[in-house]
Amino acid sequence: TVPVVLDCDPGHDDAIAILLAAASDALDLRAVTTVGGNQSLEKVTRNACRVLSVAGVTDVPVAAGASGPLVRRLRVAADVHGESGLDGPEWGPTTVRPSEVGGVELLRRTLAEAESPVAVVAAGPLTNVAALLLAHPEITGRIREISWMGGSTGRGNVTPLAEFNAATDPEAARIVFRSGLPVTMCGLDVTHQALVTPDVLARLRSLGTTVGDIAVDLMTFFGSTYREVFGFEAPPLHDPVAVARVADPSLVRTVRVNVEVETRGDLTAGATVADLARRTGRAPNADVALGLDADRFWDLVVGALAAYR
Ligand code: BDR
Ligand code: CA
Repeated sequence: TVPVVLDCDPGHDDAIAILLAAASDALDLRAVTTVGGNQSLEKVTRNACRVLSVAGVTDVPVAAGASGPLVRRLRVAADVHGESGLDGPEWGPTTVRPSEVGGVELLRRTLAEAESPVAVVAAGPLTNVAALLLAHPEITGRIREISWMGGSTGRGNVTPLAEFNAATDPEAARIVFRSGLPVTMCGLDVTHQALVTPDVLARLRSLGTTVGDIAVDLMTFFGSTYREVFGFEAPPLHDPVAVARVADPSLVRTVRVNVEVETRGDLTAGATVADLARRTGRAPNADVALGLDADRFWDLVVGALAAYR
């Protein structure tokens, strides 16, 4: 099993990413850290605790990291995730509480104390990960890989060319892509292949468990906002793809190319500029995910959620 930490901003798809990471046989989830993104830091931290509580996962520490981007102002995604950040389900009592230490410090400690290098899955803006690399450059040797849901080689979803996590903190994303660490970009190219179809929803419903029902409620709300905001028939389950990439790399087809993050363009800030045609001469620095084995991805997700009784 691969030791892993999950940095996230729950968020409907982040919630499923947490459930997948905690249940996957291939992964050993060591910490969950939160970052301001889909909603305020306070809300996404409460949401992470809610998800772990309903799942009965009480042995994974949670800590709140950065409240907003390194240099920009946070613009949350209430149109997609609601006022709470996890609108839809009726949440029961929250038993899991965030730790006293900050998110970046929990990441540092977890990496430093692990017996082998740890995979960092990032499912939100890269603020915490960049802050960790800036403040503790010696920690890079403890990072096995970074699997990030974010970016896109083409169109965006907040601006024409920028995806939400990249657009929220482009400066942080730039630091991570320039870190020299093994980075996989699981961007919209691949996450738009992870669609929560009526068939997937039926499989989740048929689990007949509390966690299965929560997943159905989450995906139903997410589906309705995705229909309203983007006109999608079925919503894309972005963040779990970055978890799946570590749990079973064979699910995701990647190309190794150079990716730079636009931080200045007045039309293009937050664009992840992937040199797919290899025209720049810049050295490859990322594995860019382009293809997903969707059937096996859904088997992985539904199978993991079925582990909760
Ligand atoms: C990403 O943005 C957030 O709204 C989702 O949680 C996901 O991480 C998709 O662009
Ligand atoms: Ca997210």
